Amino acid sequence: MSVPTTALPAGEAISILGQGTWYMGEDDRERARESDALRLGLDLGMTLIDTAEMYADGGAEEVVADAIEGRRDEVFLVSKVLPSNASRQGTIEACERSLRRMRTDRIDLYLLHWRGSHPFAETVEGFEALMRDGKIRHWGVSNLDLAAMKDLMKVPGGGAVQANQLLYNLTRRGIEFAFKPWCLRQGIPIMAYSPIERGRMLRDARLRAVAERHGATPAQVALAWLLRQKGVIAIPKASNPAHVRENRAALDLRLDEHDLATLDSAFPPPRMPRPLEML
Ligand SMILES: NC(=O)c1ccc[n+]([C@@H]2O[C@H](COP(=O)([O-])OP(=O)(O)OC[C@H]3O[C@@H](n4cnc5c(N)ncnc54)[C@H](OP(=O)(O)O)[C@@H]3O)[C@@H](O)[C@H]2O)c1
Repeated sequence: MSVPTTALPAGEAISILGQGTWYMGEDDRERARESDALRLGLDLGMTLIDTAEMYADGGAEEVVADAIEGRRDEVFLVSKVLPSNASRQGTIEACERSLRRMRTDRIDLYLLHWRGSHPFAETVEGFEALMRDGKIRHWGVSNLDLAAMKDLMKVPGGGAVQANQLLYNLTRRGIEFAFKPWCLRQGIPIMAYSPIERGRMLRDARLRAVAERHGATPAQVALAWLLRQKGVIAIPKASNPAHVRENRAALDLRLDEHDLATLDSAFPPPRMPRPLEML
């Protein structure tokens, strides 16, 4: 089965299962293994790669460069500008540094990593200049809560936001109360980061029980739970090739009503608004 897609507000279809890169590029001895893992993921159809200038101070973007060498056109490349760089000119310069590190001429989706002190209007102007120059194809945000999204929408051009990358997994369901429905009503996809909670949730007995019923692993259940939701994209990070294969196979896992009820009782949905969590 090919990886299903969801539509950006601009209409472009992007894969709902991608690959993260946080902590890649930290250790020179691991870089070849990390880029091999990303290439394996590309071979399996996980063509969305998420990175950021912050990760390993640009080191993760260098790992991505090795992974996409010779196959740039297969990839939907996401990177992020640090809030401290997100003035109009700073955004442009940060993007140009990222492009050099990734040895490419364009980023498909460029995100503001979180809200900082530079006004949204300036960051959006930087994004628009980058789009005019063909250096980015779309822009979006990360770690913005509902109030921040509403502020963004008020600035000129702010309505062109294409995605919000948020901490979202079975153990972090706060956005379900009102925020996720709001984003989806606006047609803005949620890119779920840390979809297996960096591995911390995998020992949970109730999660394991659901996995056992299907002959699957807890990570696959956690991913399948996200992937069945409309407008949600999951970006697990895996340097281990066995994990890469396992994550891809999560797309074949169908959770039934009984599974979903077990997961809801183990990881209850929110009953009231909660402040946005981030890592
Ligand atoms: N916008 C933001 O602020 C933000 C914040 C955090 C993360 N992110 C993005 O989201 C991506 C994913 O989040 P994350 O890296 O924090 O956490 P994650 O994807 O939830 O977990 C990654 C960890 O889980 C392990 N793993 C992966 N697949 C597994 C499997 N099938 N079974 C068991 N363990 C497995 C990985 O090990 P191995 O590497 O050894 O395979 C790694 O230690 C990041 O890499 C980054 O691109 C964005």
